[in-house]
Amino acid sequence: MTAFCGIELAHPVINASGCFDALAAREVFGDSLIERFPFAAYVSKTVTLGPRAGNPPPRLWEAAGGLINSIGLPNPGIDAYLETHLPAYAALGVPIITNVMGSTVEQFGELVERVALRDEVAAIELNVSCPNVATGLDIGADPHELERLVTALRPLSAKPLIVKLTPNAADVAACAAAAESGGADSVSLINTLRAMALAPGATAPWLGGGTGGLSGPAIRSIALAQVASVAASVAIPVIGMGGVASGADAAALLDVGATLVAVGTETFRDPAAGRRIANELAQRFAENAA
Ligand SMILES: Cc1cc2nc3c(=O)[nH]c(=O)nc-3n(C[C@H](O)[C@H](O)[C@H](O)COP(=O)(O)O)c2cc1C
Repeated sequence: MTAFCGIELAHPVINASGCFDALAAREVFGDSLIERFPFAAYVSKTVTLGPRAGNPPPRLWEAAGGLINSIGLPNPGIDAYLETHLPAYAALGVPIITNVMGSTVEQFGELVERVALRDEVAAIELNVSCPNVATGLDIGADPHELERLVTALRPLSAKPLIVKLTPNAADVAACAAAAESGGADSVSLINTLRAMALAPGATAPWLGGGTGGLSGPAIRSIALAQVASVAASVAIPVIGMGGVASGADAAALLDVGATLVAVGTETFRDPAAGRRIANELAQRFAENAA
């Protein structure tokens, strides 16, 4: 068992937000998905106050060793999420972490208050990779803004608050420390790195959104450096992610101080990756203990 913010997890591997659609997977795999759910907890895709259609297509580009996505956070909005998605997630049989994003402190506040009322939710993850209207910077890229946000949200819920840091910041460890000072129970990283691809034979961007976020093996060593730096700077538990595709990749993040590891892009290639990576990790632990 792995303890995380007062939650008991069967192993240290969870999914990364926006990767692994549990409702679609249930349709494809049926009840066998629940009998052998690949992750120790399920993290929802980011939910916003109102519904969002996401970015215009094309939304994906296969980069060297990774994926650039410009999905643009399509989601049904908090009303539909709480009414239909959350009860379906609760049937998965693992703790549910709801990931939310607002454009202002007030929007984040309303989202946290509404999610906090639901017993099905074990923890709330705050996606702070959203532009601050005043500065144009991501809210999570500015330690002062981030501390102000977390300080305002902290009293609104007794549930653990996880701050999903942006890697597109000058000093990620300073942002993690700011989240901790504001009262966060945990930080998770890394989110995708801002990236661009040109259409073949053209000078215009391929992605409908212009730029997108790079994920997958291409970002693994950046994730390792950022997770190590953050874990050395804060006392709260860290969820490490970025390019994890094997037990060895997961073990590296745990070795530099992560408590949990999240798997994102690899789940598109192998939907059972969470279970495989957890098994590979358990085997490594057993070998090391022998
Ligand atoms: C297609 C796609 C959709 C994503 N959607 C979200 C999202 O809704 N919210 C979020 O916080 N992160 C989102 N992410 C970022 C992942 O949760 C993760 O931080 C990142 O992809 C790095 O992990 P990976 O290399 O294992 O994919 C998304 C990533 C991908 C590839």
